[in-house]
Amino acid sequence: MGRRSFLGALAVTGGALLSGAAEAAAANMAPGPNMSWQDFRKLFALRPDRIHMAGMVLTSHPAPVAQAIEMHRAELQRDPVRYLDEKRWHFEREVSKAAAHYLNANTEDIALTDSTSMGTSFLYTGMKLKPGEEVLTTTHDHFSTEMALAECAARTGCTVRRISMFQDPAAADEGAIVDSIRRAITPKTRVVAVTWVHSATGVKIPVRKIGDVIQEVNRSRGENDRIYYCVDGVHALGIEDFTIPDLNCDFWIAGTHKWLFGPRGTGVMWGKAESWKITRPTIHTWDPDSLHAWIGWTPDVPVGGGRMMSRGGYHSFEHQWALSEAFALHEKLGKRRVQDRIHALNRQLKEGLRKIKDVRLYTPMSEQLSAGITCFNVGSLPAQVVVDKLFERKIVGSVTPYKASYARLTPGLMNSEAEVEKALETVRAIASA
Ligand SMILES: Cc1ncc(COP(=O)(O)O)c(C=O)c1O
Repeated sequence: MGRRSFLGALAVTGGALLSGAAEAAAANMAPGPNMSWQDFRKLFALRPDRIHMAGMVLTSHPAPVAQAIEMHRAELQRDPVRYLDEKRWHFEREVSKAAAHYLNANTEDIALTDSTSMGTSFLYTGMKLKPGEEVLTTTHDHFSTEMALAECAARTGCTVRRISMFQDPAAADEGAIVDSIRRAITPKTRVVAVTWVHSATGVKIPVRKIGDVIQEVNRSRGENDRIYYCVDGVHALGIEDFTIPDLNCDFWIAGTHKWLFGPRGTGVMWGKAESWKITRPTIHTWDPDSLHAWIGWTPDVPVGGGRMMSRGGYHSFEHQWALSEAFALHEKLGKRRVQDRIHALNRQLKEGLRKIKDVRLYTPMSEQLSAGITCFNVGSLPAQVVVDKLFERKIVGSVTPYKASYARLTPGLMNSEAEVEKALETVRAIASA
């Protein structure tokens, strides 16, 4: 069934598969550079009686993504094996192409995963390091990075060194962050593993400047002792107006089910063509070139890095294949417009929060050092109490799942200035209670 006839069928059956709001949005509005943010919000079936400011955790699917999932699901329900046989590699390629286009990268260098955690785990657990070699990372990274690096150390005998890039996140300084990495690199350093936007504090680090420092160090090193620079980019994707070549890194990993609005359970990773050789797959690819050679049908041709690192096996294909729609949606909106909007909403939130007596803001005001995550606390209230009180007033936030826990609001494209104002009003009421 083609997309058009599928939508027709949906209309005939009353659109039971999509919510009324999302269906109406699908019929009446085409996302594009002129779509208003108010209309954009209508693409989501999010409950309207709540203010959703935790989209950085997990997305609701916007209408174009929800429709693509339903189209693939319907076909898989009708004939799973034939649909798979006929379409799998076509759709996987389309997803890699859409990601590569958005990132300005080569399709061959994109690997498909289920999440950021899967990407970082594949990358780090597979690293071909030796005892005596060192991974340099920081105290600001996510649990998934830390655990994947611990697995790498357990398997290879390498050591993991963690440094702090700043003491007070609100006062973080670009130059000091870059210097902290520069100073911590030793002749043993083979991998630098960082997170672009920290979900612990909202700090955005200068990834490119760190990349330039590493490139400089690598100039005097050979292939066997060069440093590989790896970035968890999940909270920059779908916010920052960037392309992969801007970052000067070896590997970049992101889940696509947060800011990008991709299907839940999807993610991508990118590696520089010549860098993939430092790691190996954990779940071997089922790419036909590899599988057919194993069976003996074709000569054994090496499969490129991105394809090799794309996990094999059967998956929730309706979600995997609908990911192209999320990249397409963001491209239609325009990266610069998306960035400006999310930064503006967070600026409004931070400016309001810092005027409230008893509120402590942990995220820097500077847009060079922050993106879509705003972290704060109110007086001596535990972060969970603040988030519970916000929720009593229908505002969905989250608590940072780290040792130091803060209340976190992450206004994104589904939110309005009025919603940010309402959140501020509520924090004011909590602070003065
Ligand atoms: C910085 C960071 N990295 C990785 C993750 C894990 O993301 P995923 O759900 O895509 O595995 C999260 C949050 O969940 C995060 O905040």
